[in-house]
Formats: sequence, C-alpha cells, structure tokens
Amino acid sequence: MKHSGEPWTMSGMKDLNAPHEAPVRDFLQNLTTAPREHARFMNMLSMLEHMGSRKIMLSQMDKVLTEDILKHLAEEARHAYFFKRQAERVAGHALDGYNEENTMSRVPALMYFGRMDAGIAKIVGPDNAYPWVSLIIELRACWLYAIYQEVLEGSNLHISLKSLLAEEDMHLAEMFEMCGADEQRIQTLCRLETGLFEKLWTNLCATFSLPQAA
Ligand SMILES: [Fe+2]
Ligand SMILES: [Fe+2]
Repeated sequence: MKHSGEPWTMSGMKDLNAPHEAPVRDFLQNLTTAPREHARFMNMLSMLEHMGSRKIMLSQMDKVLTEDILKHLAEEARHAYFFKRQAERVAGHALDGYNEENTMSRVPALMYFGRMDAGIAKIVGPDNAYPWVSLIIELRACWLYAIYQEVLEGSNLHISLKSLLAEEDMHLAEMFEMCGADEQRIQTLCRLETGLFEKLWTNLCATFSLPQAA
C-alpha cells in the first residue's frame, strides 16, 4: 500500500494505523469468501457514504453552494450507490435501505459517524466542520479502500475500487488545501477518529469471524 503527499505525513495517520493494517486485511480477506456477510459490509459502506453526502448537503444549506461542493456531494452519493449496487450483486437480491438485517454493525457505524462529526465540530467549530470532518473521513477512506482494493484484486469478485479511490484521493487533496497545514490539529483529529474507528472495527470483528478452516 502506498500513499504519498502531505496529509499522510502530517497527520501521523499511517504510523498510528500501521498495527491495524494486517488484521484489517485478514478480516477483509475472510469476508470476501462469505457473500452474505460481504454484502452486508458493503451495504454498511454504502450507508456511511450516503451519510457523508447528506452531511455535506446539510452543512451547506445556508451557505453559497459552489460547483466544487456540489461535485463532492454528488461523488459521495455515487459511492453510496456503487457500494449498494455491488452489495446487491454479491447478495443476489435487493438490499433496500439500511436495516439490521442487511447492514453489518449498523448501529456502531452510525455511532462512529455521529461521534466523529460531533467530536471534530466541537474542536474546530461548526463553521469549519465541513473541510475538517471531510479531511479526516478522506484519510480513513483512502486508507481502508487501498487495503480493500488489494484484497479484491486477489479475489475473483471483479469489483474494482480504483475510480472511487482516485476520487477520494482528490477529495483528500482538496480538503487539505482548504484546512491548511495545521499539524497539531490534524494529528489531534486523526487520533480522535482512529479511536472511533478501532471501536467500530472491534464490533465488525465480533459480528463476523470465519471459523478457521480445518
Ligand atoms: Fe466516498
Ligand atoms: Fe470522498
């Protein structure tokens, strides 16, 4: 997995998350062999992408909506659509909405998003929440999707996250430019998000573990 560029170095994201790389990769590798659970996982990603898109929309309601922001919002909505579509393809049937049955760790995922959004907004102030929350989400998205893409490449599922990753990478660069190089702040927020991600991931692992092959 390779990432380059300032936000990676400055945030300390890679070092902080280095211990999680191998377990996350193992989890995803097992998951891709279990279609029903894999579909539920992708539907959870769809839900988080949808929440991201919706959050951008709500945060801009009383502001001047620019082309850049509309593009960002539309791309996150498309990511939600992408994961929903792939989840349905793997499941072999429709997965309408996001409920306990069709969404893995639904409540912990909602809590992850809600707590991160509220935690970051409290530190940076509501007016700066859009770029900062987005920046931290993009770091996680790029980190996770890069590992996920490698796992998918090694599977026979014919799912590619390449164009999605390219868009997340672009968002990351844009948000980093908007936020400015505030090293202390980016590290604080990155630690906050990593703690919440660890909680969500613990729950995912408790929800799905493949029995070791005999
Ligand atoms: Fe996205
Ligand atoms: Fe994004």
